[in-house]
Amino acid sequence: MSNSGQNEKKLLSVLRGERRDPPPVWLMRQAGRYLPEYRELRAEKGGFLDLVHDSEAAADVTLQPIRRFGFDGAILFSDILVVPHALGQDLRFVAGEGPRLSPPLVDSALGALEAAPERLDPVYRTVELVAAALPPGTTFLGFAGSPWTVATYMVAGQGSRDQSETRRMAYGDPQAFGAIIDAIAGKTIEYLGKQIDAGVDAVQLFDSWSGSLSPAQFEQWVIAPTVKIVSALKARYPDTPVIGFPKGAGEKLPAYARETGVDALGLDETIDPEWAAETLPVDLPVQGNLDPLALIAGGDRLDSAIDRIEKAFAERPHVFNLGHGILPDTPIAHVEHLLARLRKG
Ligand code: CP3
Repeated sequence: MSNSGQNEKKLLSVLRGERRDPPPVWLMRQAGRYLPEYRELRAEKGGFLDLVHDSEAAADVTLQPIRRFGFDGAILFSDILVVPHALGQDLRFVAGEGPRLSPPLVDSALGALEAAPERLDPVYRTVELVAAALPPGTTFLGFAGSPWTVATYMVAGQGSRDQSETRRMAYGDPQAFGAIIDAIAGKTIEYLGKQIDAGVDAVQLFDSWSGSLSPAQFEQWVIAPTVKIVSALKARYPDTPVIGFPKGAGEKLPAYARETGVDALGLDETIDPEWAAETLPVDLPVQGNLDPLALIAGGDRLDSAIDRIEKAFAERPHVFNLGHGILPDTPIAHVEHLLARLRKG
């Protein structure tokens, strides 16, 4: 395989441990509401879930940011909550309020749910369509939520500010809670495996709420299930990189990096890139970690934030990204500016 040229998947090579200059770039939540072409299609198709289940439309949304910006990575257009849907919860996205899962497991048993694995079939079809349409140099990323983060929605039935119901259940009935985590982990292994079979090049585990756990709970509910998922995937797909993104993990990141077996580590915007560069294993690819609000601010603050990240990670495999998802009010011109600055040559 050639090491340069337009057809080489640069992002994939970095996830496998190579350093590239300039670093490959994609943005979390890049397929979505800051794009006028997304808002237009979304209005036409009705609900968010209808869009996810319409494989042609979902493939189109996945490709929109690639056409517009030429990112090095495309992320599948779907959601982390399709896994609870496949486990048998009802899933609705309420305008202006966010997701609702019912019945919430805080007052209903996992065993009462009737699994509906076919609900994921349109997602695999989307993967096939995107894989056939992507430019050859673009790395295709699949994803799932990590068991802890997905469990916080399954238990509460919706997003929660501090994940209190779920943390209470984890202490109060660790056996019942462990069964929920195991069910999500098992489904996630199957779900990511089928995404890989259908054509994604790498996968990311989003653990958006890992920051709300005490150290012992983090080991039990974040690290252990991540180990299980990564090792099951590695046994079947040794060449497919897994990116772990334990948002808010802070000083627990080195343990996460050492123990989970992930191939690359996503860093949120609260992590000092210089600390990360000094503390994390030198050969571990890192991804991140521009503050989504710096991207909105633009100007000098954006430029200095970009420079600080590039400088800190100049010696190691680095994928440029945000520290969390791009916000809906991000000016398109600022995304263009970010790319121009990174690729200045
Ligand atoms: O661009 C992409 O990254 C593509 C797909 C993607 C979506 N959600 C589409 C989406 C990804 C990777 C996600 C991840 C996701 N979903 C996470 C983890 C990352 C994070 O942001 O913390 C979480 C916690 C969810 C659950 C979820 N889905 C919530 C809380 C909401 C409502 C609020 C919000 O963020 O918009 C969603 C809806 C959702 N998922 C939208 C999109 C484009 C907005 C739906 C719309 O168009 O109204």
